[in-house]
Amino acid sequence: MPVLLELRASINSTRGESSKLSQRFVERWCAKHTDTRVVVRDLATDPVPHLTAERFQAFLTPAADRTPAQVAHVQASDALIDELKLADIVVLGLPMYNFGIPSTLKAWFDHVARAGVTFRYTESGSIGLIGDKPLYILAARGGLYQGTERDFQTGHVTLFFNLLGIRNIQFVYAEGLNISPESKEASLEVAREAIDALI
Ligand SMILES: Cc1cc2nc3c(=O)[nH]c(=O)nc-3n(C[C@H](O)[C@H](O)[C@H](O)COP(=O)(O)O)c2cc1C
Repeated sequence: MPVLLELRASINSTRGESSKLSQRFVERWCAKHTDTRVVVRDLATDPVPHLTAERFQAFLTPAADRTPAQVAHVQASDALIDELKLADIVVLGLPMYNFGIPSTLKAWFDHVARAGVTFRYTESGSIGLIGDKPLYILAARGGLYQGTERDFQTGHVTLFFNLLGIRNIQFVYAEGLNISPESKEASLEVAREAIDALI
């Protein structure tokens, strides 16, 4: 049974525009692939804590030497990694906040990027250990950035998932959501059509 991981990063949980797009994707996908098992990780309702020195030290400590608190920190990170590893397809609802990714998603990144676990360094660069899989990113933005040098988000997110070994990435953009109600609806409609076309 294929597993789809839906990752929501909007502060508004299911009511965020990026979440509405990710939910549409999942709905449409499951209508076509009826045997899909959906796993949802909503970073608004179930946030990952900020990475602290204490948590990072737990990652670095050999398993046999970890304190009970360190074991718990590593288990929490391992659970997020397993969820990603086990997924056959990943759908990310990605809002833009203050020109970048939501801090909740950054906290998730910080718990999922683990040297020796999800990637490793070599003399010729890093190698991802997660395994490639399709990743669909549904990006919601108040303004217009796509294809300009002001779009720091697309490069950041792509680089991050490439680090883990995920290269099969497709973006759908819903931009100009805060320009006017008309531009919002027009942009969302284009995004919805793009999602339907992808599936
Ligand atoms: C705290 C905050 C910061 C934002 N910063 C930006 C920004 O830098 N650029 C932009 O185009 N839109 C910005 N927006 C607008 C959001 O990108 C837009 O509302 C989008 O729908 C957010 O996705 P969501 O509805 O899934 O949460 C911001 C919105 C919020 C709430």
